[in-house]
Amino acid sequence: MSKGNVLVTGGAGFIGSHTAVELVAAGYRPVVVDNLANSNRDVLKRMAAIVGEPVAFHEVDCTDAEALEGVFQTEGPFVGAIHFAAYKAVGESVERPTAYFLNNIGSTAVLLDALTAHGVRRLVFSSSCTVYGEPETTRVDETAPIRTAESPYGYTKQACERLITDHHTAHPALNATLLRYFNPIGAHPSAQIGELPIGRPNNLIPFLTQAVAGLREPLTVFGDDYPTPDGTCIRDYIHVVDLARAHVAALERAPEGVSVYNLGTGNGASVKEVIDAFERATGKAVPHAMGPRRAGDVVAIYADASKAWRELGWKTERSLEEALADAWRWQEAVTR
Ligand code: NAD
Ligand code: WQD
Repeated sequence: MSKGNVLVTGGAGFIGSHTAVELVAAGYRPVVVDNLANSNRDVLKRMAAIVGEPVAFHEVDCTDAEALEGVFQTEGPFVGAIHFAAYKAVGESVERPTAYFLNNIGSTAVLLDALTAHGVRRLVFSSSCTVYGEPETTRVDETAPIRTAESPYGYTKQACERLITDHHTAHPALNATLLRYFNPIGAHPSAQIGELPIGRPNNLIPFLTQAVAGLREPLTVFGDDYPTPDGTCIRDYIHVVDLARAHVAALERAPEGVSVYNLGTGNGASVKEVIDAFERATGKAVPHAMGPRRAGDVVAIYADASKAWRELGWKTERSLEEALADAWRWQEAVTR
């Protein structure tokens, strides 16, 4: 007996595909809606190979209210919705701010109206630690102030959090959970699904694995003169499967109203520590060289994720080494 249909926008993407798999494992029927702007139809087959049954899919742009209505007509009712669909490249958002505003904020507005029109009672939203900017303390909880966004992308996450909160004030039947992800990495241990950056990766782990695979030049470490123990920046890298499971916990256990949770491991790792952990986990050397700082980088940030544990009963279970080993297994699978 299914626990019900869950609308998963952006469900063909990196985090959405892993979440759809965990939804099936938890007894739900995910309905993936994606316009394939940053993903590939093959992912659906790969998800089906993991879960052992086809995953419902609609190639629909979430900014298209009419097309989205069609999905509600054919696949509804929904017990909840998880909204991953967005553009996510920080640098590109500086070049194309209008596209980011229209897509990220527009899709959220269209979805909110559809959810309310159809009486859906729960929305889970993909937010980001980027809303905190350069924080006052390195370990941040959800009460840390929201700072002026560093990029149009970061602004769209802040604006969507506000929009969802305002929508709840006007339409309290729709409860919402804002999940602020730290740095999602890794891949499904089956190596069927993972992160598929188009072109040159901006993020550390896909660049690192492509460098190890010989597809790129050596990794440049962006700055080793920061005020951290080894001079490199510190982040909270979370295994994507742990992150995916948090969405199921949020659907099932988040309180009424609008709630917000940090999702991270609670531990910071420097760039040098990530390189060492990768080498330990895989036995592969990481070709790398020190380089200058990257503009706009936060020095050090990691999550206080204790609220998610207290209220959702969720915490991470996978180590950095496991995440890096899974990222490497996935890189090998896509290179083959
Ligand atoms: P992704 O690009 O792999 O997945 C996003 C998916 O949304 C893609 O499949 C894309 O085709 C789809 N999409 C984009 N616009 C759409 C639209 N208008 N209609 C339908 N589908 C659309 O990205 P991801 O890493 O899986 O990120 C998922 C969410 O999590 C995003 O909202 C992102 O901003 C957020 N997030 C990601 C990270 C990260 O580091 N990966 C960190 C914090 C927050
Ligand atoms: C991690 C660390 C780099 C590449 C970005 C977005 C943020 C969020 C997550 C969505 C940093 C260093 C990187 C390289 C390096 N996304 N690095 N060499 O900067 O924490 O955050 O992704 O919401 O909004 O800004 O992640 O993976 O780019 O960098 O040394 O080639 O790796 O300087 O310290 P970041 P990242």
